Amino acid sequence: MNALFPAPTEVPPALYGKRERDILMRTMAGLATLRLGWAGLVHRRERLLAADDLRTQLTITDRHSVAHDTDVVSLTLRAPEGGELPRWFPGAHLDLELPSGRVRQYSLCGDPGDIACYRIAVRRIPGGGGGSIEVHEDLRVGDTVWVRGPRNAFPFVVPGYDGSPSTRAHFVAGGIGITPILPMMRMAQRLGVEWTMVYAGRSRDTIPFLAELEEFGDRVTVRTDDEFGLPTGADLLPGVGPGTAVFCCGPVAMTDNVAAAVRQLPDVALHSERFSAPPVVDGKPFQIELARTGAIIDVPADRTALETILETRPATPYSCRQGFCRTCVVRVLDGDPDHRDTALTDAERAAGAMLPCVSRCDGGRLVLDL
Ligand code: FES
Repeated sequence: MNALFPAPTEVPPALYGKRERDILMRTMAGLATLRLGWAGLVHRRERLLAADDLRTQLTITDRHSVAHDTDVVSLTLRAPEGGELPRWFPGAHLDLELPSGRVRQYSLCGDPGDIACYRIAVRRIPGGGGGSIEVHEDLRVGDTVWVRGPRNAFPFVVPGYDGSPSTRAHFVAGGIGITPILPMMRMAQRLGVEWTMVYAGRSRDTIPFLAELEEFGDRVTVRTDDEFGLPTGADLLPGVGPGTAVFCCGPVAMTDNVAAAVRQLPDVALHSERFSAPPVVDGKPFQIELARTGAIIDVPADRTALETILETRPATPYSCRQGFCRTCVVRVLDGDPDHRDTALTDAERAAGAMLPCVSRCDGGRLVLDL
């Protein structure tokens, strides 16, 4: 098996996370550009794996439902022998390796001040690719799991600190989007930052951690669709004015509405994380040829290559669908990819690597080693 390109039938490889946030990765990538063939890529990856101290085995020590409808479960993870875990900052996530080999990313939603454990929460999503179902049905207290991280693709830029021009924070969470937001709220509270929060969702029965939010009193507004109807962007930003940093996590429609509303507000900064793939921008239709079967797949202008590949090969590995985890990496045998990811180095691209969850082709055809 080639280490960069797993055999098509295999489960996802371990992940590196975002290249620009990993100093070792950046350094090695720079060295790799000096001389790179397939062997160079393989050896570089092996060195990275050998030096990668982020992969850790943890034990599940607590598991319970955190929403009334019981469709959200929280897991507490500790080192098997106890002891401290690597520190993390609000907005960080773990890559969780599931028993099937699937890798899924879950935001840390516990207390960043507690370095004895990590906490994640997972909503059951029927038909959502299987990861959440596996967490709900197969993971139990006492099981051990492999994780990588924590890594942070949604950092909390604390108003008033580290050169932030903002003076207050406003948080917006939609449903399970509360997970990265909850530690941000705790940190804002501890640091004495002025903040407010709107928590949206279908109904009070479906949104997790309602009981935990009670400690924050009227800083938090719960706004559910069954009581108030679908919110507009403005509905989610009450009282937001100049000098506010908005931190938003939730479904695509919600984050898009908030982004549109923030654009109308002067001197308001938006930091957001969305659940699913971003929409395709300026895409052109193209074709994919699966080299091992000869199958031809048409990729429309408004769909990703990964989406169309999944229709033919449902077991194709993927995780983030946003071009930073590398899980979906494939080898291009022919054609000119339009690379839109943030993970691959120039050398890896030159060697044929492509992430079809975001990357595509500017017309024509790509032949993939699938
Ligand atoms: S699924 Fe994460 S990079 Fe493609």
